[in-house]
Amino acid sequence: MPNKVLNYTERGEGMPLVLIHGFPFDHTIWSRQLEEVGDSVRVLAPDLPGFGQSRALEGGEATMDDYADRLAQWAQEVGLGRFVLVGHSMGGYVAFAFLRRHADMIAGLGLVCTRSGPDSEQGKKGRYEMADNVRERGPQAVVDAMLPRLLSDETREKNPQIVAQLKEIMLRQSKEGIIAALQAMATRPNSSPLLETIEVPTLVVGGAGDQIIPAPEIDLMAATIPGARQERIDGAAHMPMMERPDKLSGMLRDLALGSRTVPNVPEPPDTDNIAKVRTHRG
Ligand code: MLT
Repeated sequence: MPNKVLNYTERGEGMPLVLIHGFPFDHTIWSRQLEEVGDSVRVLAPDLPGFGQSRALEGGEATMDDYADRLAQWAQEVGLGRFVLVGHSMGGYVAFAFLRRHADMIAGLGLVCTRSGPDSEQGKKGRYEMADNVRERGPQAVVDAMLPRLLSDETREKNPQIVAQLKEIMLRQSKEGIIAALQAMATRPNSSPLLETIEVPTLVVGGAGDQIIPAPEIDLMAATIPGARQERIDGAAHMPMMERPDKLSGMLRDLALGSRTVPNVPEPPDTDNIAKVRTHRG
């Protein structure tokens, strides 16, 4: 079934679990979760606009609301009904915008290595400087700035192929997509006031060695969301879906199975596709 809104890959049947990647990646960071959680529920991993093979947002400066609205349009086109939404880092910023604008579509929420607060003034300045560097040098500028901070020492020593894989993912993103996302991150609002209003089952996950989202921020966020389950993954930094995929997959499976997800568009029986990955190009 071709999809014109966002490129995505899916696997499995049943409760929809939508995984949103962070910056500057694409849906392939979730390969292990597609494989491992797709046995129990329907896992869908889209590319955000301007990343992977999804077309970029049109018009002027991008906002988190634009990403959230495109995601809602995609979910409607795919016929997901209510679903469990999981956001990694910038994907979490998109999830907060989605919660503000399309809360009735969310049955459960996963926040992975992300924060609810906005950028500081210094942080914003850094985003615009990075955008200038990307205009000049392309994605290599982001690789140089971010790659040394994304993974734990343990991952670097024991799994150097993950370093190479992550670099490859970052290098294949477009300048246009990266710059739009930097603008959207710089101008995103403070989502912290939303936290205490969240009513769906929520999982908050941090990597024990994450240098990008410090543990106290994750702790406060988890403590503020009513009834949230909090987990910290040892041996992982900012990319637990690749560094400790089995651990994160188990947590996401629990979240999906524990969320009261009632797809309002029934899936046709499609036994041929169970346990097969299906890719839909945008
Ligand atoms: C991400 O992984 O999405 C980014 O590190 C988020 C950020 O830069 O704030």
